[in-house]
Amino acid sequence: MTAIEQKFLYEQVAEDMRHAITIGTYSSEERLPSLRKITSLYGVSLATAIQAYQWLEDSGFVEARPKSGYYVLPRGCGKACEPEVSNPRMKASEVTVGELALGILEEARRPDLINLGAAVPGEDLLPLKNMSRIYAGVARREEALLGHYEAQQGNELLRKQISRQLRSSGVRVHPDEVIITNGCMEALILSLRAICKVGDTVAIESPSYYGMLQAAELLRLNVLELPTHPRDGVDLNALQQALDKKMINVCLFMPSFNNPLGSSMPHKNRKQLVEMLAAENVPLIEDDIYGDLSYDTPRLPAAKSFDCHGNVLLCSSFSKTLAPGYRIGYVVPGKYFDAVLKRKFLGNVASAGIPQVALAEFLRKGSYERVVRKAALHYKQRTDRLRQLVLQYFPEGTRVTQPQGGFVLWIEMPEHISGVALHDRALAAGISITPGVIFSPGGDYQHHIRMSASAVDGDAIDRAVKTLGELSNKF
Ligand SMILES: Cc1ncc(COP(=O)(O)O)c(C=O)c1O
Repeated sequence: MTAIEQKFLYEQVAEDMRHAITIGTYSSEERLPSLRKITSLYGVSLATAIQAYQWLEDSGFVEARPKSGYYVLPRGCGKACEPEVSNPRMKASEVTVGELALGILEEARRPDLINLGAAVPGEDLLPLKNMSRIYAGVARREEALLGHYEAQQGNELLRKQISRQLRSSGVRVHPDEVIITNGCMEALILSLRAICKVGDTVAIESPSYYGMLQAAELLRLNVLELPTHPRDGVDLNALQQALDKKMINVCLFMPSFNNPLGSSMPHKNRKQLVEMLAAENVPLIEDDIYGDLSYDTPRLPAAKSFDCHGNVLLCSSFSKTLAPGYRIGYVVPGKYFDAVLKRKFLGNVASAGIPQVALAEFLRKGSYERVVRKAALHYKQRTDRLRQLVLQYFPEGTRVTQPQGGFVLWIEMPEHISGVALHDRALAAGISITPGVIFSPGGDYQHHIRMSASAVDGDAIDRAVKTLGELSNKF
């Protein structure tokens, strides 16, 4: 057993009591067994019983009432309604993601389904008219762009705009340090390809975006899942332990609004993360695709902004903010620039020119900030609303994250509910959700689902979540 897996006695007692509360053995407002009763029930000392109840209190499950004992707090308040820090096995493993993940994006394309599954942005919040007008203008004016390959590294005008845009995330780079890609997914794959060889180990947050798992599977890399806090992101102590044991070749993290957790690393953790990895010469691939959709302004600086050694490869795209259909992303690969560029050429020579020039023109006109601010405010309202609906309709014991950016929610249901079965039943009822198992290589998160709040608007969503609640109550 690793130090991370070991649990203190009081934690075991507290976990068991938490479980009893979660499955409804003790209901809201009910008085819990006295401390003395706990000592005889579990065969532990009074000090251990006190520690267990303190843990439950700190975690927001119970409250101590003077001279009366400990009571279960109502659901939906306190930390009790948020998932806990994840607790993966901390063992590098091969990845097999399976067919399930491939179906999720397809479901988002079906007009007969209410999409709470795929993490696609709300179409009403994208500047599609403006972008298509600019696109049409560029295509008409600059037909020569069709007559040659765009630069391998990407269009110069666009790289310039991106380097300006990156200043808002604290990243100061020359346009020549940016490589344009076909979306963030290509940026991630090129980065992994540039750094890793078959059999290397990639450390990821647990849970993590299934696209990353698929990438690891494709490149025959092992994955090491790290404990991750639903608010603060990856556990740096656990990471340090893995680094000390030389278990990791590269880290692939989403410090800003992890998909699916929505967690956001505090400022000081980002700096510490970059320093820890530089000290061990382990590169960080930073996926910042949701970073600009922060509900707070200014957004937190990207981890890349603390990088003094070229050890961080910053990957992002405009798929969540402007237009997923443009398929434009980028990577700022630091000291891995040449290795990434070579692989870009081998993959597809260069990205298409017209979308790049059109995007450069859009960014030059200066409305990116306004578009993204407006969208982030809407996403905040939509995630809040979806969260409330889930807590209202889902079975007692359901926990939901409270992200500070992006538009996905991670939902932990009572253990007897299968996320995959709920997905299948929801699909039959005309609703798409994402089962939690696809966010882990080891088949964890069986009773979890991810929901996207991006399209949550109008009464249809109330009805859809009510239906999901009814379905989940039938398990
Ligand atoms: C965390 C994360 N990274 C990368 C991607 C892929 O982005 P793109 O569509 O720009 O390739 C997604 C898409 O959902 C994502 O959620």
